[in-house]
Amino acid sequence: MSSKSVIINCRLVTPLGRSAQKGEAMRHLHTLDSAFVCIEDGLITATGPMSEFKQAPAASSDTTVIDAVGRALLPGFVDSHTHLVFGGFRPEEFSWRLKGDSYMSIMNRGGGIQSTVNATRLAGKPELIARAEWFIRRMSEMGVTTVEAKSGYGLDLETEMKMLDVIEAIATADHRQIDVVSTFLGAHAVPKEYAGRTAEYCDLIINQMLPAVKHKARFFDIFTEKNVFEIDDSRRLLRAAKDAGMQLKLHADEIVRLGGAELAAEMGAVSADHLLHVSDEGITQMAQAGVVATLLPLTAFALKEPFAPARKLIDSGCAVALATDLNPGSCFSGSIPLTIALACIYMNMHIEEVITALTLNGAAALGEAHSVGSIEPGKAANLLLLDFADYNMLPYYVGMNCVNTTIWRGNVVFKRDAII
Ligand code: NIG
Ligand code: FE
Repeated sequence: MSSKSVIINCRLVTPLGRSAQKGEAMRHLHTLDSAFVCIEDGLITATGPMSEFKQAPAASSDTTVIDAVGRALLPGFVDSHTHLVFGGFRPEEFSWRLKGDSYMSIMNRGGGIQSTVNATRLAGKPELIARAEWFIRRMSEMGVTTVEAKSGYGLDLETEMKMLDVIEAIATADHRQIDVVSTFLGAHAVPKEYAGRTAEYCDLIINQMLPAVKHKARFFDIFTEKNVFEIDDSRRLLRAAKDAGMQLKLHADEIVRLGGAELAAEMGAVSADHLLHVSDEGITQMAQAGVVATLLPLTAFALKEPFAPARKLIDSGCAVALATDLNPGSCFSGSIPLTIALACIYMNMHIEEVITALTLNGAAALGEAHSVGSIEPGKAANLLLLDFADYNMLPYYVGMNCVNTTIWRGNVVFKRDAII
Protein backbone atom coordinates (compact mmCIF):
# COMPACT_ATOMS: atom_id res chain seq x y z
CA MET A 1 0.00 0.00 0.00
CA SER A 2 1.32 3.42 -0.84
CA SER A 3 1.99 5.86 2.00
CA LYS A 4 0.74 9.38 1.55
CA SER A 5 1.18 12.50 3.60
CA VAL A 6 0.70 16.21 3.17
CA ILE A 7 2.23 19.19 4.91
CA ILE A 8 -0.16 22.14 5.04
CA ASN A 9 -0.02 25.82 6.05
CA CYS A 10 3.78 25.97 5.94
CA ARG A 11 5.96 28.82 4.72
CA LEU A 12 7.75 27.15 1.78
CA VAL A 13 11.39 28.19 1.30
CA THR A 14 13.55 26.47 -1.31
CA PRO A 15 16.06 26.98 -4.07
CA LEU A 16 14.87 25.51 -7.36
CA GLY A 17 16.64 23.39 -9.93
CA ARG A 18 18.32 20.10 -10.65
CA SER A 19 21.88 21.40 -10.75
CA ALA A 20 24.00 23.74 -8.61
CA GLN A 21 23.08 27.41 -8.47
CA LYS A 22 26.07 29.58 -9.26
CA GLY A 23 27.08 33.07 -8.21
CA GLU A 24 24.29 35.57 -7.82
CA ALA A 25 21.65 32.90 -8.58
CA MET A 26 22.44 31.34 -5.18
CA ARG A 27 20.39 34.15 -3.62
CA HIS A 28 17.18 33.26 -5.49
CA LEU A 29 14.86 31.28 -3.25
CA HIS A 30 11.31 30.33 -4.14
CA THR A 31 9.01 31.24 -1.23
CA LEU A 32 5.28 30.82 -0.63
CA ASP A 33 3.73 32.24 2.53
CA SER A 34 1.11 29.57 3.02
CA ALA A 35 1.80 26.40 1.11
CA PHE A 36 1.20 22.66 0.91
CA VAL A 37 3.51 19.81 -0.07
CA CYS A 38 2.15 16.38 -1.01
CA ILE A 39 4.27 13.28 -0.48
CA GLU A 40 3.74 9.77 -1.78
CA ASP A 41 6.07 6.82 -1.19
CA GLY A 42 8.87 9.11 -0.06
CA LEU A 43 8.69 11.45 -3.05
CA ILE A 44 7.30 14.95 -3.39
CA THR A 45 4.33 14.78 -5.77
CA ALA A 46 2.95 18.32 -5.65
CA THR A 47 3.52 21.72 -4.05
CA GLY A 48 1.57 24.96 -4.22
CA PRO A 49 -0.24 27.72 -2.36
CA MET A 50 -2.93 26.65 0.15
CA SER A 51 -5.53 28.35 -2.05
CA GLU A 52 -4.98 25.48 -4.53
CA PHE A 53 -4.79 22.72 -1.91
CA LYS A 54 -8.19 21.11 -2.52
CA GLN A 55 -7.20 20.12 -6.03
CA ALA A 56 -3.99 18.48 -4.84
CA PRO A 57 -3.85 14.71 -5.52
CA ALA A 58 -3.02 13.50 -1.99
CA ALA A 59 -5.80 15.36 -0.16
CA SER A 60 -7.75 12.24 0.77
CA SER A 61 -8.62 10.44 4.01
CA ASP A 62 -5.78 7.87 3.92
CA THR A 63 -3.31 10.72 4.09
CA THR A 64 -1.28 11.79 7.14
CA VAL A 65 -1.62 15.53 7.57
CA ILE A 66 1.10 17.66 9.17
CA ASP A 67 -0.16 21.14 10.00
CA ALA A 68 2.93 23.35 9.88
CA VAL A 69 1.34 26.70 10.56
CA GLY A 70 3.95 29.15 11.84
CA ARG A 71 6.86 27.11 10.50
CA ALA A 72 9.17 27.43 7.50
CA LEU A 73 9.61 24.27 5.41
CA LEU A 74 13.04 23.90 3.81
CA PRO A 75 14.78 21.09 1.94
CA GLY A 76 16.69 18.83 4.32
CA PHE A 77 20.29 19.91 4.75
CA VAL A 78 23.01 18.09 2.82
CA ASP A 79 26.30 17.72 4.71
CA SER A 80 28.51 16.97 1.71
CA HIS A 81 31.87 16.61 3.50
CA THR A 82 32.33 14.52 6.65
CA HIS A 83 34.75 11.96 8.07
CA LEU A 84 32.13 10.42 10.33
CA VAL A 85 33.64 6.92 10.60
CA PHE A 86 36.71 6.76 12.83
CA GLY A 87 38.18 5.14 15.93
CA GLY A 88 39.43 7.04 18.99
CA PHE A 89 39.41 10.76 19.71
CA ARG A 90 42.18 13.40 19.77
CA PRO A 91 41.25 15.94 22.47
CA GLU A 92 44.92 16.30 23.52
CA GLU A 93 45.80 17.64 20.05
CA PHE A 94 43.11 20.29 20.31
CA SER A 95 44.60 21.42 23.63
CA TRP A 96 48.13 21.46 22.15
CA ARG A 97 46.89 23.65 19.29
CA LEU A 98 45.26 26.04 21.74
CA LYS A 99 48.70 26.38 23.33
CA GLY A 100 50.34 27.26 20.01
CA ASP A 101 51.09 23.95 18.26
CA SER A 102 50.08 23.68 14.59
CA TYR A 103 47.95 21.07 12.81
CA MET A 104 50.74 20.14 10.37
CA SER A 105 53.51 19.95 12.99
CA ILE A 106 51.41 17.50 15.04
CA MET A 107 50.82 15.47 11.86
CA ASN A 108 54.51 15.56 10.89
CA ARG A 109 55.57 14.07 14.23
CA GLY A 110 53.24 11.10 13.82
CA GLY A 111 50.06 12.38 15.45
CA GLY A 112 47.13 13.83 13.59
CA ILE A 113 45.57 11.60 10.95
CA GLN A 114 48.04 8.76 11.74
CA SER A 115 46.83 8.68 15.32
CA THR A 116 43.24 8.10 14.16
CA VAL A 117 44.53 5.53 11.63
CA ASN A 118 46.09 3.55 14.50
CA ALA A 119 42.79 3.56 16.43
CA THR A 120 40.66 2.79 13.37
CA ARG A 121 42.82 -0.17 12.35
CA LEU A 122 42.19 -1.66 15.81
CA ALA A 123 38.44 -0.96 15.90
CA GLY A 124 35.80 -3.56 15.04
CA LYS A 125 33.04 -2.92 12.53
CA PRO A 126 30.17 -3.00 15.09
CA GLU A 127 31.89 -0.36 17.20
CA LEU A 128 32.52 1.88 14.17
CA ILE A 129 28.92 1.45 12.99
CA ALA A 130 27.48 2.28 16.43
CA ARG A 131 29.56 5.41 16.72
CA ALA A 132 28.75 6.59 13.16
CA GLU A 133 25.05 6.08 13.83
CA TRP A 134 25.34 8.15 17.02
CA PHE A 135 26.72 11.02 14.93
CA ILE A 136 23.96 10.53 12.37
CA ARG A 137 21.25 10.87 15.04
CA ARG A 138 22.80 14.21 16.07
CA MET A 139 22.75 15.23 12.39
CA SER A 140 19.06 14.39 12.00
CA GLU A 141 18.33 16.68 14.93
CA MET A 142 19.92 19.52 12.97
CA GLY A 143 17.92 18.80 9.80
CA VAL A 144 20.52 16.84 7.83
CA THR A 145 18.93 14.30 5.47
CA THR A 146 21.91 13.50 3.22
CA VAL A 147 25.47 13.03 4.41
CA GLU A 148 28.72 12.16 2.72
CA ALA A 149 31.04 9.79 4.60
CA LYS A 150 34.70 9.29 3.76
CA SER A 151 37.10 6.44 4.43
CA GLY A 152 40.71 7.55 4.88
CA TYR A 153 41.61 6.36 8.37
CA GLY A 154 42.78 2.94 7.19
CA LEU A 155 45.49 3.73 4.66
CA ASP A 156 45.88 0.02 4.01
CA LEU A 157 43.63 -2.07 1.80
CA GLU A 158 42.08 -4.06 4.65
CA THR A 159 41.12 -1.09 6.82
CA GLU A 160 39.98 1.11 3.93
CA MET A 161 37.67 -1.75 2.89
CA LYS A 162 36.50 -2.09 6.50
CA MET A 163 35.61 1.59 6.58
CA LEU A 164 33.73 1.35 3.28
CA ASP A 165 31.88 -1.71 4.64
CA VAL A 166 30.87 0.36 7.67
CA ILE A 167 29.64 3.18 5.43
CA GLU A 168 27.68 0.66 3.34
CA ALA A 169 26.16 -0.81 6.51
CA ILE A 170 24.89 2.56 7.76
CA ALA A 171 23.70 3.50 4.25
CA THR A 172 21.57 0.36 3.92
CA ALA A 173 20.43 -0.36 7.52
CA ASP A 174 16.67 -0.91 7.85
CA HIS A 175 16.54 1.69 10.63
CA ARG A 176 18.44 4.35 8.64
CA GLN A 177 17.20 7.92 8.74
CA ILE A 178 19.51 9.62 6.26
CA ASP A 179 20.93 9.15 2.75
CA VAL A 180 24.63 8.32 2.81
CA VAL A 181 27.07 8.90 -0.08
CA SER A 182 30.45 7.17 0.22
CA THR A 183 33.88 8.51 -0.65
CA PHE A 184 37.20 6.66 -0.78
CA LEU A 185 39.94 8.76 0.84
CA GLY A 186 42.88 6.34 0.75
CA ALA A 187 44.99 9.37 -0.25
CA HIS A 188 44.37 11.10 3.10
CA ALA A 189 47.97 10.80 4.28
CA VAL A 190 51.05 8.65 3.68
CA PRO A 191 50.88 5.97 6.42
CA LYS A 192 53.84 5.54 8.75
CA GLU A 193 54.95 2.27 7.12
CA TYR A 194 55.44 4.20 3.85
CA ALA A 195 57.16 7.23 5.43
CA GLY A 196 59.48 8.80 2.85
CA ARG A 197 58.05 6.53 0.13
CA THR A 198 55.11 8.55 -1.12
CA ALA A 199 55.41 7.30 -4.72
CA GLU A 200 55.23 3.69 -3.53
CA TYR A 201 52.12 4.43 -1.47
CA CYS A 202 50.57 6.04 -4.56
CA ASP A 203 51.38 2.81 -6.48
CA LEU A 204 49.60 0.83 -3.76
CA ILE A 205 46.51 3.03 -4.05
CA ILE A 206 46.47 2.77 -7.84
CA ASN A 207 47.29 -0.91 -8.23
CA GLN A 208 45.63 -2.52 -5.21
CA MET A 209 43.12 -0.19 -3.61
CA LEU A 210 41.41 1.37 -6.64
CA PRO A 211 40.40 -1.96 -8.25
CA ALA A 212 38.90 -3.05 -4.91
CA VAL A 213 37.13 0.15 -3.89
CA LYS A 214 35.89 1.53 -7.21
CA HIS A 215 32.53 -0.22 -6.91
CA LYS A 216 32.18 0.46 -3.18
CA ALA A 217 32.55 4.27 -3.22
CA ARG A 218 31.08 6.95 -5.45
CA PHE A 219 33.88 9.50 -5.02
CA PHE A 220 37.65 9.52 -4.86
CA ASP A 221 39.04 12.22 -2.56
CA ILE A 222 42.60 13.30 -1.79
CA PHE A 223 44.40 15.58 0.70
CA THR A 224 46.34 17.70 -1.80
CA GLU A 225 48.71 19.55 0.51
CA LYS A 226 52.35 20.49 0.94
CA ASN A 227 54.27 17.51 2.38
CA VAL A 228 51.25 15.22 1.95
CA PHE A 229 50.21 14.63 -1.69
CA GLU A 230 51.63 17.49 -3.72
CA ILE A 231 50.36 18.47 -7.16
CA ASP A 232 52.16 15.87 -9.30
CA ASP A 233 51.27 12.93 -7.04
CA SER A 234 47.72 14.24 -6.75
CA ARG A 235 47.35 14.52 -10.52
CA ARG A 236 48.58 10.93 -11.00
CA LEU A 237 46.17 9.58 -8.39
CA LEU A 238 43.20 11.61 -9.62
CA ARG A 239 43.82 10.50 -13.21
CA ALA A 240 43.93 6.84 -12.15
CA ALA A 241 40.72 7.24 -10.13
CA LYS A 242 38.99 8.92 -13.06
CA ASP A 243 40.15 6.15 -15.39
CA ALA A 244 38.65 3.68 -12.89
CA GLY A 245 35.29 5.45 -13.31
CA MET A 246 35.21 7.33 -10.01
CA GLN A 247 34.10 10.95 -9.55
CA LEU A 248 36.59 13.30 -7.98
CA LYS A 249 36.85 15.53 -4.92
CA LEU A 250 39.87 17.27 -3.42
CA HIS A 251 40.86 18.71 -0.05
CA ALA A 252 42.38 21.74 -1.76
CA ASP A 253 44.39 24.76 -0.57
CA GLU A 254 43.47 24.02 3.06
CA ILE A 255 46.74 24.77 4.88
CA VAL A 256 48.85 26.41 2.16
CA ARG A 257 48.21 27.71 -1.38
CA LEU A 258 49.35 24.82 -3.55
CA GLY A 259 47.14 25.06 -6.64
CA GLY A 260 44.59 22.48 -5.54
CA ALA A 261 41.71 24.52 -6.96
CA GLU A 262 43.42 24.75 -10.35
CA LEU A 263 44.03 20.98 -10.28
CA ALA A 264 40.36 20.37 -9.43
CA ALA A 265 39.34 22.41 -12.48
CA GLU A 266 41.89 20.66 -14.70
CA MET A 267 40.68 17.22 -13.64
CA GLY A 268 36.97 18.04 -13.87
CA ALA A 269 36.41 17.35 -10.16
CA VAL A 270 32.86 17.57 -8.85
CA SER A 271 34.04 19.64 -5.87
CA ALA A 272 37.10 21.24 -4.32
CA ASP A 273 36.81 21.55 -0.55
CA HIS A 274 38.25 23.88 2.13
CA LEU A 275 39.88 26.52 -0.19
CA LEU A 276 41.07 28.71 2.69
CA HIS A 277 44.06 29.79 0.60
CA VAL A 278 42.59 29.52 -2.92
CA SER A 279 44.19 31.81 -5.53
CA ASP A 280 42.28 34.22 -7.76
CA GLU A 281 43.30 32.10 -10.76
CA GLY A 282 41.96 29.00 -8.99
CA ILE A 283 38.63 30.76 -8.41
CA THR A 284 38.36 31.74 -12.07
CA GLN A 285 39.18 28.22 -13.23
CA MET A 286 36.71 26.60 -10.84
CA ALA A 287 33.94 28.94 -11.99
CA GLN A 288 34.67 28.09 -15.64
CA ALA A 289 34.90 24.34 -15.04
CA GLY A 290 31.78 24.24 -12.84
CA VAL A 291 33.59 22.77 -9.81
CA VAL A 292 31.51 23.18 -6.64
CA ALA A 293 33.49 25.11 -4.01
CA THR A 294 32.68 23.36 -0.73
CA LEU A 295 33.49 25.61 2.21
CA LEU A 296 33.97 24.24 5.72
CA PRO A 297 33.93 27.20 8.13
CA LEU A 298 33.96 25.03 11.26
CA THR A 299 37.44 23.79 10.31
CA ALA A 300 38.84 27.27 9.76
CA PHE A 301 37.28 28.30 13.09
CA ALA A 302 38.63 25.30 15.02
CA LEU A 303 42.11 25.71 13.49
CA LYS A 304 42.04 29.49 14.07
CA GLU A 305 42.74 29.97 10.35
CA PRO A 306 41.25 32.64 8.07
CA PHE A 307 37.89 31.73 6.51
CA ALA A 308 37.66 30.83 2.83
CA PRO A 309 36.82 33.80 0.57
CA ALA A 310 33.14 32.97 0.15
CA ARG A 311 32.16 36.39 -1.20
CA LYS A 312 34.87 36.36 -3.83
CA LEU A 313 33.93 32.83 -4.89
CA ILE A 314 30.23 33.69 -5.23
CA ASP A 315 30.84 37.06 -6.86
CA SER A 316 33.14 35.33 -9.36
CA GLY A 317 30.32 32.98 -10.41
CA CYS A 318 31.23 29.83 -8.48
CA ALA A 319 28.69 27.46 -6.99
CA VAL A 320 29.41 27.38 -3.25
CA ALA A 321 28.33 24.57 -0.91
CA LEU A 322 28.74 24.54 2.88
CA ALA A 323 29.49 21.41 4.92
CA THR A 324 30.76 20.55 8.41
CA ASP A 325 33.92 18.43 7.84
CA LEU A 326 33.08 16.52 11.04
CA ASN A 327 36.31 14.66 11.90
CA PRO A 328 38.32 13.79 15.03
CA GLY A 329 41.20 16.16 14.25
CA SER A 330 40.95 19.49 12.47
CA CYS A 331 37.25 19.90 13.23
CA PHE A 332 35.46 17.82 15.84
CA SER A 333 32.09 19.44 15.24
CA GLY A 334 29.15 18.65 13.02
CA SER A 335 27.23 21.74 14.01
CA ILE A 336 24.98 23.04 11.24
CA PRO A 337 23.83 25.99 13.42
CA LEU A 338 27.41 27.12 13.98
CA THR A 339 28.21 26.61 10.28
CA ILE A 340 25.31 28.95 9.44
CA ALA A 341 26.47 31.53 12.00
CA LEU A 342 30.07 31.56 10.78
CA ALA A 343 29.06 31.71 7.11
CA CYS A 344 26.77 34.68 7.70
CA ILE A 345 28.79 36.60 10.29
CA TYR A 346 32.40 36.02 9.21
CA MET A 347 32.15 34.97 5.55
CA ASN A 348 29.56 37.60 4.66
CA MET A 349 27.27 35.13 2.95
CA HIS A 350 23.61 36.11 2.71
CA ILE A 351 21.28 33.71 4.50
CA GLU A 352 19.62 32.93 1.14
CA GLU A 353 23.04 31.88 -0.21
CA VAL A 354 23.66 29.83 2.91
CA ILE A 355 20.37 27.97 2.46
CA THR A 356 21.23 27.17 -1.17
CA ALA A 357 24.77 26.16 -0.13
CA LEU A 358 23.43 23.72 2.50
CA THR A 359 20.75 22.20 0.26
CA LEU A 360 20.86 22.24 -3.55
CA ASN A 361 24.57 23.02 -3.89
CA GLY A 362 25.48 20.44 -1.27
CA ALA A 363 23.43 17.95 -3.26
CA ALA A 364 25.30 18.99 -6.43
CA ALA A 365 28.62 18.43 -4.62
CA LEU A 366 27.46 14.82 -4.22
CA GLY A 367 26.07 14.42 -7.75
CA GLU A 368 22.55 14.26 -6.28
CA ALA A 369 21.02 17.61 -7.32
CA HIS A 370 18.57 15.76 -9.57
CA SER A 371 17.14 13.81 -6.61
CA VAL A 372 17.41 15.97 -3.47
CA GLY A 373 18.25 19.53 -2.36
CA SER A 374 15.05 21.37 -3.25
CA ILE A 375 11.31 21.04 -2.71
CA GLU A 376 9.99 20.10 -6.14
CA PRO A 377 7.81 17.30 -7.51
CA GLY A 378 9.88 14.24 -8.34
CA LYS A 379 12.52 14.85 -5.69
CA ALA A 380 12.83 12.88 -2.45
CA ALA A 381 10.69 14.19 0.42
CA ASN A 382 13.76 15.13 2.48
CA LEU A 383 12.53 18.16 4.39
CA LEU A 384 12.85 20.13 7.59
CA LEU A 385 10.51 22.36 9.53
CA LEU A 386 11.89 25.26 11.53
CA ASP A 387 10.51 26.41 14.86
CA PHE A 388 9.78 29.71 13.10
CA ALA A 389 8.14 30.92 9.90
CA ASP A 390 10.98 33.33 9.11
CA TYR A 391 14.20 31.75 7.79
CA ASN A 392 16.10 34.84 8.96
CA MET A 393 15.86 33.26 12.42
CA LEU A 394 18.54 30.77 11.28
CA PRO A 395 21.50 33.20 11.57
CA TYR A 396 19.80 35.47 14.13
CA TYR A 397 19.43 32.72 16.75
CA VAL A 398 23.21 32.46 16.78
CA GLY A 399 24.57 28.94 16.97
CA MET A 400 21.23 27.53 18.13
CA ASN A 401 19.25 24.75 16.49
CA CYS A 402 16.04 26.08 14.90
CA VAL A 403 15.01 22.71 13.45
CA ASN A 404 11.73 21.41 14.85
CA THR A 405 11.08 18.41 12.60
CA THR A 406 13.19 16.43 10.14
CA ILE A 407 11.53 14.36 7.43
CA TRP A 408 13.54 11.80 5.47
CA ARG A 409 11.93 10.06 2.47
CA GLY A 410 8.52 11.14 3.76
CA ASN A 411 9.02 9.82 7.31
CA VAL A 412 9.40 11.99 10.40
CA VAL A 413 12.83 10.96 11.75
CA PHE A 414 13.22 13.74 14.30
CA LYS A 415 10.73 15.90 16.11
CA ARG A 416 11.84 18.22 18.87
CA ASP A 417 11.52 16.56 22.27
CA ALA A 418 10.76 13.21 20.72
CA ILE A 419 13.24 11.25 18.62
CA ILE A 420 11.34 8.75 16.52
O1 NIG B 1 39.33 17.88 6.19
N1 NIG B 1 42.95 17.76 6.18
C1 NIG B 1 42.64 16.63 5.97
N2 NIG B 1 41.59 15.96 6.43
C2 NIG B 1 40.68 16.44 7.40
C3 NIG B 1 41.20 16.33 8.78
C4 NIG B 1 41.43 14.94 9.19
C5 NIG B 1 41.96 14.76 10.59
O2 NIG B 1 42.63 15.65 11.15
O3 NIG B 1 41.70 13.67 11.12
C6 NIG B 1 40.17 17.82 7.06
O4 NIG B 1 40.58 18.84 7.64
FE1 FE C 1 37.88 16.87 5.37
